[in-house]
Amino acid sequence: MLSGGLSPQSFRRLSALVRERSGIALSDDKRMLVANRLRKHVTELGYEAYDPYSDYVLTSGAAAEIDTLIELLVTNHTSFFREPEHFRLLSEEVLPELASSSGPVRLWSAAASSGEEVYTMAMVVAEASRQIRGLDCRITGSDISRRMLAIADKGVYPLAALDPVGPVFTKRYFQRGISSQNGRCRAQADLRSRVRFRRINLLDSSYPVGGRQHVIFCRNVMIYFDAEVRAQTIDRLTDMLVPGGYLFVGYSESLGAHTPGLEPAWHGVYRRI
Ligand SMILES: C[S@@+](CC[C@H](N)C(=O)[O-])C[C@H]1O[C@@H](n2cnc3c(N)ncnc32)[C@H](O)[C@@H]1O
Repeated sequence: MLSGGLSPQSFRRLSALVRERSGIALSDDKRMLVANRLRKHVTELGYEAYDPYSDYVLTSGAAAEIDTLIELLVTNHTSFFREPEHFRLLSEEVLPELASSSGPVRLWSAAASSGEEVYTMAMVVAEASRQIRGLDCRITGSDISRRMLAIADKGVYPLAALDPVGPVFTKRYFQRGISSQNGRCRAQADLRSRVRFRRINLLDSSYPVGGRQHVIFCRNVMIYFDAEVRAQTIDRLTDMLVPGGYLFVGYSESLGAHTPGLEPAWHGVYRRI
């Protein structure tokens, strides 16, 4: 049991560190939420209050502990076929158009969380490949969270998470677990072979994803950044697009006025000029 709550001073110091390392901006009204998210971890480390834990994280600069702090505070919510209109656009508009590009079509999910977005892209690409001869795509998923990337890499999900996938694609692209894996599904080897995962922090100055991309999904993460970090991230992502390439952001994440080098294409989708 921790004595006392998370003091405003410790909250401010921790949130400044989280913003500096991940871009996530935690407003003052998030103090209780942060305390709740950290409570179990702080107790498990043997601290009796938040303040000495904050002192430890801030003064030791221990990279692994800072990563854990960020992992505990970021929102990882995701699902297969989330914001499904984007996958319809990918399938019916974007891939048929890009199929004639020279060389492989490169797609990147830049805040992939536990991988559902990336495997959804891979299913859409696999389906398109049945129609478009010779379609060659490279799909990369990345995230700041090692814990989420480990889940993504395994490609194992509870059966209930497969609801939006529907019975036909579930049968085609997933394998039901048996005995100890009962109630879970794993992305089939062919689907897994279409994707690769990397740890990339969107705040980094360069993104090692194998060159400029034709399609970048960066959905439902910049909503947690403040305007300055969001603008810098959009600039770096725009630089990572080939001319004519597409940037997909979340349905509720209009880029507002800050879209140099981009033009709106569809709802939540921008195109590099
Ligand atoms: C809410 S999830 C969105 C997942 C998916 N794109 C979707 O729309 O369903 C946000 C993800 O962004 C990741 N994230 C937060 N800050 C990040 C950063 N600076 N660099 C890379 N990923 C980050 C989190 O770890 C989390 O997995």
